[in-house]
Amino acid sequence: METYHDYVIKDGQFVGKFEEMYAKFDDPWMQSNQPNKYSRTAGIIHLKNFQIKSVLECGCGLGYYADWIFRETGIVPHSVDVSEVAIQKAKTLFPNLHFEVADITSDLAKFKAVDCVMFAEIVWYILPQLPDIFRVLAQEFKGKYLLVNQVFYKGSQKYGTEYFTNLAEFINYVPFELQGQCEATTVGESTIETSTIFKI
Ligand SMILES: C[S@@+](CC[C@H](N)C(=O)[O-])C[C@H]1O[C@@H](n2cnc3c(N)ncnc32)[C@H](O)[C@@H]1O
Repeated sequence: METYHDYVIKDGQFVGKFEEMYAKFDDPWMQSNQPNKYSRTAGIIHLKNFQIKSVLECGCGLGYYADWIFRETGIVPHSVDVSEVAIQKAKTLFPNLHFEVADITSDLAKFKAVDCVMFAEIVWYILPQLPDIFRVLAQEFKGKYLLVNQVFYKGSQKYGTEYFTNLAEFINYVPFELQGQCEATTVGESTIETSTIFKI
């Protein structure tokens, strides 16, 4: 039976039909349950530790993490997603927050007023564009923060292995200065949750 994964990465190949996926599946990645609580909690701790006042949340999906960030920090994230359906649903769920359609592979520079750019579980979907994104960050966001919440896989990763397969390799790949890192899992999980923060 078809699942939302078929619209994202299938048989080790990127599909990236996010709009169709959100139109067909109500709660992909179980967003309403806020899975990966270690990385999301660590992301919020990073925001507090580095006294960040404004955030561009890239890949906000249905908006549940934006709401959590708001409740914990008082920050209303500038939350963007490439899917119009996801943004409409997020606006309905959290009318007090700020959601907008944007493709961060092309629109990032528009948001240079923020203190921090956050990649919210989006890195696997923008791998080929990462060098260009890093270039825009270096040019337009110098002195600001890049915060990355990202899941890695315990020996089962098929896609993107030529880029990185674990947190240490990811940190090595990012051309900015590491400020903080957190990596956590439970014995029964097949994934490793991570949150890292870099100074651009
Ligand atoms: C794994 S979901 C994460 C959703 C939410 N941040 C969470 O952690 O539950 C990744 C999200 O990134 C969005 N996305 C993928 N490519 C994108 C792009 N180029 N620009 C903006 N959003 C993108 C997808 O539509 C999807 O909602």
